[in-house]
Amino acid sequence: MTTTTTQSVAPNLRLDGITLTYPDGDGTLTALDRVDLDVPAGTITAVVGPSGSGKSSLLAVAATLVTPDSGSVVLAGTEVNGLSAADRSRLRRERVGIVFQQPSLLPSLTALEQLQVMAHLDGRGPRGARSQAAELLDAVGLAAQAGRRPHQLSGGQRQRINIARALMNEPAVLLVDEPTSALDHERGAAVLDLIARLTRERGTATVLVTHDRTHLAEADEVLTMTDGRLGACASAV
Ligand SMILES: Nc1ncnc2c1ncn2[C@@H]1O[C@H](COP(=O)(O)OP(=O)(O)OP(=O)(O)O)[C@@H](O)[C@H]1O
Ligand SMILES: [Mg+2]
Repeated sequence: MTTTTTQSVAPNLRLDGITLTYPDGDGTLTALDRVDLDVPAGTITAVVGPSGSGKSSLLAVAATLVTPDSGSVVLAGTEVNGLSAADRSRLRRERVGIVFQQPSLLPSLTALEQLQVMAHLDGRGPRGARSQAAELLDAVGLAAQAGRRPHQLSGGQRQRINIARALMNEPAVLLVDEPTSALDHERGAAVLDLIARLTRERGTATVLVTHDRTHLAEADEVLTMTDGRLGACASAV
């Protein structure tokens, strides 16, 4: 892997001049329009904006799941441009935690196994994986539910497992897309508190896409996405 190391002061996630278009009939749709973003370690940048404005596209590019038309993504000191597909997916597996809106847990696995499987993908030994998984389940308040399968858990508990799973490989960058949309207000606030605590404790560079303005109090920076343009939030808390 080609590694460009940028030392301590560098943010853990940096996007420079990102433009992303999708084919749209005879023309193209600009989902991201010259987007710049710097997220330092241990901080949360919240992104708000209307439906269809490009928020999930931003996370997909930051996660190296989608390659932009132009611009650069630097993840934990590594420039993504020019990496092979295999190096990109390794970087993603090792350095990026992704929390999608709906927890996508495997129905037949227990809570503990949902986390252990991540380490298995990473080629780590079973013992270290088991203690890491148990520690993370404890950190999200679910030590007692370690043996339960998804259908035996509440929506909030499933989402907490989703978050714990994203942290299994100790990512430098945590990308979270509307994590509370399936939850009531109280459980949503608890999930947000959890994300904020884990961001500070583990020093992740966290991007949080949310529709819920009550979440913005937890953010170090609040940005608004409008038609693919990312800017300062005029009505930030
Ligand atoms: N794979 C795709 N192919 C074509 N167009 C796409 C694709 N994914 C997203 N788009 C378009 O790109 C634009 C941005 O979509 P995106 O999913 O990033 O919005 P969003 O801000 O996350 O919206 P929401 O709040 O509804 O989740 C939209 O116009 C959408 O229709
Ligand atoms: Mg979206």
